[in-house]
Amino acid sequence: METKKILYSGIQPSGAITLGNYIGAISNFVKLESQYNCLFAMADLHALTVRQVPADLRARTIQLTALYIACGLNPENNIIYCQSHVPQHAELSWILSCFSYMGELGRMTQFKAKSEKNSENINAGLFTYPVLMAADILLYQSDLVPVGADQKQHLELTRDIAQRFNGIYGDVFTIPDGYIPKVTAKIMSLMDPLKKMSKSDDPDSYISLLDSFDDIRRKLKRAVTDSDADIRFDPENKPGVSNLLSIYSALKNVSIEEAEKDFSGKGYGELKKDIAEVVVEHIRPIQEKYNMLMQDKAYLNDLLKTNAEKAQSIAQKTLRKVYKKVGLYQIK
Ligand code: TYM
Repeated sequence: METKKILYSGIQPSGAITLGNYIGAISNFVKLESQYNCLFAMADLHALTVRQVPADLRARTIQLTALYIACGLNPENNIIYCQSHVPQHAELSWILSCFSYMGELGRMTQFKAKSEKNSENINAGLFTYPVLMAADILLYQSDLVPVGADQKQHLELTRDIAQRFNGIYGDVFTIPDGYIPKVTAKIMSLMDPLKKMSKSDDPDSYISLLDSFDDIRRKLKRAVTDSDADIRFDPENKPGVSNLLSIYSALKNVSIEEAEKDFSGKGYGELKKDIAEVVVEHIRPIQEKYNMLMQDKAYLNDLLKTNAEKAQSIAQKTLRKVYKKVGLYQIK
């Protein structure tokens, strides 16, 4: 890779890729890709922290590969790859777990939330999940990590672990910065606008990038708003309407003020209908490209093979350095 800075991010292939993933993460990848050397992962190892149907996980991994490209990421200039194809992630994760404290991992709000949601399967992977995420980011000496607001705490932990390690062994890791734009970093559930839109919730609460256009219209029509008819951005008092305005402003690339203006004097019915059309028209070309790509699985497979090798060769440089620093014997 040449002299540009490094950008890294990942998405778990653990469910449908939602409009939240798109607005909070992928659309920013597309915005930033030309300024950085980028790696985008299908975080399949992370997905194992919740029980998966093996065939579904496999299928969703290749679907996410196609979706990254269909959303506009250039498959030649970026390394779009699968986390489990690069064994260095798991290896660095082990080392970093020896530099992570039980207390700090226990404070992660996502660990607490996921433990509540999966109370029958609070496995150790769920607990050490952010350490693997730190390994993902630090292996590639990443400078910038675009994510949604829900990953902010994990990113801060990554910086803490890296600083701790560097404090003992010298400058081994680049300390990464987050890229988390304010308004669009948390797209909310359509059924409960006080909760984030999540691929692990009821399908009516999210829009999948692969939903039929009828489903998109139906889901938005039913989106929870409130009883007064005023269309304005006020997340505290009008979370549902504010969420719809955020979606509109992100997809139309206009400010929230402009979004409010576009709907002044209109009712909720019109708001939902107009936004549904904006979503459909935005998703239409993505689905067309996705469907085309999915017809050529051999191409996607070859891409994953080439990119696994590229990622491994970068990752191995960091891992070798780390092994040496911590005192693991190296075969001459
Ligand atoms: P994941 O798969 O839950 O989500 C992928 C990305 O989408 C963002 N996101 C949202 N943004 C706005 N509104 C929402 N409702 C919404 N839901 C999700 C997430 O913040 C994320 O940026 N641990 C990560 C995957 C990962 C990763 C990494 C990310 C693994 N290794 C290294 C960055 C760097 C995760 O579970 O994301």
